Amino acid sequence: MPDARSLMDRYASYLPITDRTPRLTLGEGNTPLVRARALERETGIPEIWLKVEGQNPTGSFKDRGMVIAVAKALEQGARMVLCASTGNTAASAAAYAARAGMSCTVVLPAGQVAAGKLAQAIAHGARVVAVRGPFDAALAVVRALAEQGEATLVNSVNPDRLEGQKTAAFEICEALGEAPDALFIPVGNAGNITAYWKGFVEAARSGMARQRPRMYGYQAEGAAPLVSGKPVAEPQTLATAIRVGNPASWKGAVMARDESGGAIDSVSDDEILDAYSFLARCEGVFAEPASAAAIAGLRKRVRENGLGSAKRVVCVLTGNGMKDPDRARSLAGDIAEVEATPDAVRAALSS
Ligand code: F0G
Repeated sequence: MPDARSLMDRYASYLPITDRTPRLTLGEGNTPLVRARALERETGIPEIWLKVEGQNPTGSFKDRGMVIAVAKALEQGARMVLCASTGNTAASAAAYAARAGMSCTVVLPAGQVAAGKLAQAIAHGARVVAVRGPFDAALAVVRALAEQGEATLVNSVNPDRLEGQKTAAFEICEALGEAPDALFIPVGNAGNITAYWKGFVEAARSGMARQRPRMYGYQAEGAAPLVSGKPVAEPQTLATAIRVGNPASWKGAVMARDESGGAIDSVSDDEILDAYSFLARCEGVFAEPASAAAIAGLRKRVRENGLGSAKRVVCVLTGNGMKDPDRARSLAGDIAEVEATPDAVRAALSS
């Protein structure tokens, strides 16, 4: 029986909240761990689990951190939240701001946000502005605007975001009765890998787990500053969620990698697309392309280095596949349209 309490109530003692913090919730967290049997067969790893974060209220892991960031902003008397986003942060901020009765402004990289995410921000009533340039340019703009007061910045540079996001590591430890041997996760602005590592460190310290996993982060080849060691001025990848050239949590990602004995590497767009299709067709799990970078990364690691003694692996699927309907639609050609008769449909199926 899953715990019906809200994320904030379940993990109150680990979070920066007080009795005065509004108990905001849309039912975030408590996402399923799904066994990935097809991937186990392919890789030979005995146990692989998918942490399906696309089942959060707005369809991505951002909700875990956003609920805390918006509740704290409300507690402190703010009336407005502000963020830059490749899409998911915007959708989440817009939803939680609506819930809290606050207004929300989102600044997006023009032409680079998946349709579902933009639809969410608009539906929840956010004010949306697109800037010419990548996510990094949008983040620089909102940081400057936030410094001038008024709105609270709810990007992952806000520490409350990372505190909320670390709860996914707690859930994994509780569900498995122990931390996994290795965790595979996509990396963009690098907040999530930083938050997971913090969560696993705290879980080990508090007795929730005995060990800590090796952390394996994956960037897209055209947007891999943490792999090359220098910012990328014009990041490129079809996984638009992680199209980030200069991650704000750079140091946190490097710390997670080094303290855990893991690695940060890149995967190509072709490898991402292949993993995206595999997940949907062979596991029945529809995740967005950026999430599939974790699976592409696991396959690459197994192929090139092996995973040593690791027997139990968790891959974080950060966002729902329905966020980016155009990408899924591009996998097939025209859909046949025929007369509404069994013969016509049978003929179309066999052609
Ligand atoms: N996966 C998805 C689906 C994302 O939306 C993001 C980040 C990541 C992975 C990477 O997480 O940035 O913490 O390393 N999306 C941000 C946004 C940048 O604006 O929605 P990260």
